[in-house]
Parts: sequence; C-alpha cells; structure tokens
Amino acid sequence: MGISICPVTPDFVAEVGDADLSALPAADLAAVKAAFWKYAVLVFPGQDLTPAQHLAFAREFGPVETDRVLDTKKAPHRLNVSFADISNLAPDGRIWAGDSRQRQYKAGNRLWHTDSSFKFRPGLASLLYSRTVAPVGGHTEFADQRAAYDALSDAMKRRLQGLVAEHSIATSRRKSGFTDFTEDEGRRLPPVPQVLVRTIPQNGRKSLYVASHAGRIFGMPETEGRALIDALIAHATQRQFVYTHRWRERDLVMWDNRCTLHRGTDFDDLRWVRDMRRATVSDVANTCEQEGVAVPA
Ligand code: OGA
Ligand code: MN
Repeated sequence: MGISICPVTPDFVAEVGDADLSALPAADLAAVKAAFWKYAVLVFPGQDLTPAQHLAFAREFGPVETDRVLDTKKAPHRLNVSFADISNLAPDGRIWAGDSRQRQYKAGNRLWHTDSSFKFRPGLASLLYSRTVAPVGGHTEFADQRAAYDALSDAMKRRLQGLVAEHSIATSRRKSGFTDFTEDEGRRLPPVPQVLVRTIPQNGRKSLYVASHAGRIFGMPETEGRALIDALIAHATQRQFVYTHRWRERDLVMWDNRCTLHRGTDFDDLRWVRDMRRATVSDVANTCEQEGVAVPA
C-alpha cells in the first residue's frame, strides 16, 4: 500500500500515515526520506517503538549522538546514552524537583534553537518520541528557516553570505539563567564556528542557520554581531514560518536541524508528567566545511 503523506503546508511539515517505523519496508523508507528532505518536519502518529527500534530508525539517517552535555556524576541519567531525555522526570522516574540541575539546564529548550549547533559537527536530524504528554501546554514549535531565508531582502542575503557565527552551549544557557557549568563541562564543549547561511544538499535550498546558541559573529564587533543574530532569530520565528505541534501519546516527530528552529512551550512541569526521548543524528561535517568557508582562527 505504501505510506500516505498529508502536508500541513505545501513544503513545511507533513503527517505520515500507514507507516510502522519499527518495520519499514525499503520502498517506504525511501519515500520517508524524500518527504523528510522536502518537508523538514515529519509527524508519525501512533508509533509503538522500543528504544532499540527508535534508534534503528534514526540510524537510517546517520550516526546517533552518544555524548552528554552535563556531567553524569552531577546529573545522573534516566535513559541510555543514545537518548536525550526530553522529560521532566528524575532518574527515579518521579517528577523532578524545582531546584534540580536538569530542570535548570533544560529550561534552555524553551529558547529557539537547533540541536547540537554548539558541537563542531552539529545535529542533522532529531527524532523525538512521546510516551506521556501533558494535558495542557508542553507543545513543540518549529520554524522553517528556508522560508525565513527566502523572505530576507537581497541586501541582507548578500550581507550574510560567508559569515560565520560562534555557537556555544554556555551562550544559550546564560540566556535561560543556567551558568553553573563545571570546568570539566566547559572544557568538553568549547565554542564552535557555524555558517549563518547553509545550503541543503538534497534540494539546493538555502537556509538561515542561527540559534540561541549563537553568540558573536567572526570579523564583526561583538555587540553588532549579537544584535544581528537577535534580529535574524526574530525575523525567522515570525508566525508565518511557525508550526506548533500539539503532542499525542506515541507521536514520533522528526525534524531537519539544518533548516528548522524549534522550542518547547511552557507547561506546569512540577505537576504534569511529560515524557519524551530524542535520538539525534549527527551531520556529516562542520557547516563551514560543508559550505567551503574557511573556519575563522
Ligand atoms: C528537543 C527540544 C523541546 C521540547 O527535543 O530537542 O528542544 O520540550 N524539545 O519539546
Ligand atoms: Mn532541541
């Protein structure tokens, strides 16, 4: 029969039916990949996936990240190292405490970002699977960075071409009020360069590449660079570029980190359980290398 695709807009976000991700025939996998490059966000409702099946599907797109930002001695983990824990649960399975380090750290997910742009080799795709959803709030919003790029003036497109920003986890966490990285954590995650405009190889479309992780722009006074990044994020997250995903239990949503921004929305996280896990697929190289731009010294 094959999968069925219901686009939300002509080229951003599609819901995919008749797809069992635990056992996808090769022809359907090829159709899913083609849809993914086109729509950038895919929603697969009603999935029944073990962690191993979730990871096996993710690995069809490339290697899955297994490194942690926070020191696991100071912030013990509930899930296996291949998953980012996008829940409000402590390792013992209960709702986290108001003052927990994980809670303070994850508040940064409420800011517009793209996954792992603070790593030299950033995230290509993220696959987030929901087990328990909050009855109100706790949505995830996505912004189409190809449409945002297309809507820039020609003068701005020219200005951005070849520019490189510095991304770091400390930058976004400072904005959300988390500053107590240990020295060890800081050493493991030095700032990294990423281009501001990238090209998506599968379709040739250009895309803005900014995030709350981005700080200064190389070759520009620090305040000017930060102001430009803030203005670009404000432009790129206007309502006409945004899709809000209201979760159902057992949705798997995957997005292309190269050309989308996302953020979690507010919910009463000390009252309701929201339990989701994310597998993150690494990109093929640093974005400067992909664009043929020299990495600034
Ligand atoms: C993510 C993420 C935000 C949220 O899964 O990468 O940032 O809470 N999620 O939905
Ligand atoms: Mn994220």
